[in-house]
Amino acid sequence: MATNGIRSTNRDHLDDSLTRAKQFFSFLRCPSCGAKVQVENGKAGFARSGRLICVRCSATYAIKNYIPELLPSREATLWESLIRTQTVKISDKQAYAAREWMLDVLGISEADIRETRASKTLWRDIAYLRKAVRNAQLSEDVLLEFIAMWGARGMAPRYKNTIADQLLGERLATNYERYEDVLLRVILRCILDDNEAVLVELGSGVGRLLMQYASCKTSRREAARPYRSAFPDMYEPDSLGKPQHLRMLIGLDFESRMLRSSSAWLSANRLTEEIRTGVITQVLGSMHHLPFGLEHHMFDKATKVVCIMFQTIGNQLTSAHRSQILRYAWELAKPDGVLVVSAFNGEFFQKLGIPYYQSIQASVGKAIHVADATFVSEKGIYSKWMIPSELERTCHAAGIANPLLLWGSQLEIFPEFDRYIRASSQSRVKNRTLLAVASTDPALLAKVRQSLCS
Ligand SMILES: C[S@@+](CC[C@H](N)C(=O)[O-])C[C@H]1O[C@@H](n2cnc3c(N)ncnc32)[C@H](O)[C@@H]1O
Repeated sequence: MATNGIRSTNRDHLDDSLTRAKQFFSFLRCPSCGAKVQVENGKAGFARSGRLICVRCSATYAIKNYIPELLPSREATLWESLIRTQTVKISDKQAYAAREWMLDVLGISEADIRETRASKTLWRDIAYLRKAVRNAQLSEDVLLEFIAMWGARGMAPRYKNTIADQLLGERLATNYERYEDVLLRVILRCILDDNEAVLVELGSGVGRLLMQYASCKTSRREAARPYRSAFPDMYEPDSLGKPQHLRMLIGLDFESRMLRSSSAWLSANRLTEEIRTGVITQVLGSMHHLPFGLEHHMFDKATKVVCIMFQTIGNQLTSAHRSQILRYAWELAKPDGVLVVSAFNGEFFQKLGIPYYQSIQASVGKAIHVADATFVSEKGIYSKWMIPSELERTCHAAGIANPLLLWGSQLEIFPEFDRYIRASSQSRVKNRTLLAVASTDPALLAKVRQSLCS
């Protein structure tokens, strides 16, 4: 009897764990073929570590520390081997050819590059990626994605402390983010007023937004304590109006170190419970192969708020990639969701860009190019500041007909600005921000416009 009792407890635990894992991951899709993925039968604690298998092409994907790893399999395998060992030999000639090719892709002239000692390594790294991708007979698009991942990987170790952490980061970075935080908060509050919503952040980095909104969703006092006491307007549940209407937070990033840092930050802020219960789902994946099917019944009647924040759009290496990620994000938000894109305004690059990148050099590395509203660093970080008409064109190329584009004086001053951002910094951060909001629901878009504009 006692033995049976123990057996049935284990069985229940296993069933419970599997059911939860199935629920957690039921909206995920195979990044290679788009079909559903299923949790492979396994041991208890499955949502924490296990495997997903595609029902159509049978590709398998690992789940590690609650994070499903959904990069397309061939690319993921090559990427893993590339970051583990650099075995491909690179000659000076190959490094030089990679440099020429890269400058050509980015549209940067030779004269506008200021080499540093580290940038010599960058060209070799690019040659290394180029050779490996060619040997594996993968496309140039994959190579461009790998180069962007390489840059993000180099930036990740100091990203949280230098840029994203509102308590520790460099003043210019945190001020810019706070401004964005307030704008997104205003949009969300306006949506949550009448609707339930799911927030999906594409390019979620070290989890700044996941942490902020998970903190708003819990009344547990120990959660995100230092942030709540410093910024109650942004981290306390009341600040969101109807936090119970925010059903779930999903973060996607293609760089594993970023996600690792995010998990550590969430855990340090006692938000692991929100990961364990599926309030937060983090996914390793690329915006170019979105592994989601948000038409899933889990999201019935919830407004999908898909956002691409803090210049992630400008980090894409070509205009084709910038419009591609907007196209995919827009498809994800449709039929009646909202897409929010925040970029850096190219009109202010000369004035605001140079001091900004100097202030965050510890994370991004030294500049090797700062002209034509574009920054490139010796670590391979690329950042294109877009002028409003450029972002508008990119939206049109992505099939977004009438985006709401807002910047500078068009935006309202909200009470939170005064409490969250020093008055002396407000005009600078407003000038830097360029916001695009789109929805196929005109009434919702009009409401958002009204809440954002003076
Ligand atoms: C500038 S950071 C912004 C991070 C975060 N959104 C924030 O506001 O703190 C850009 C992030 O986007 C990720 N990223 C860039 N391109 C991506 C892509 N194509 N797919 C997935 N993640 C991407 C990078 O790894 C990086 O973490």
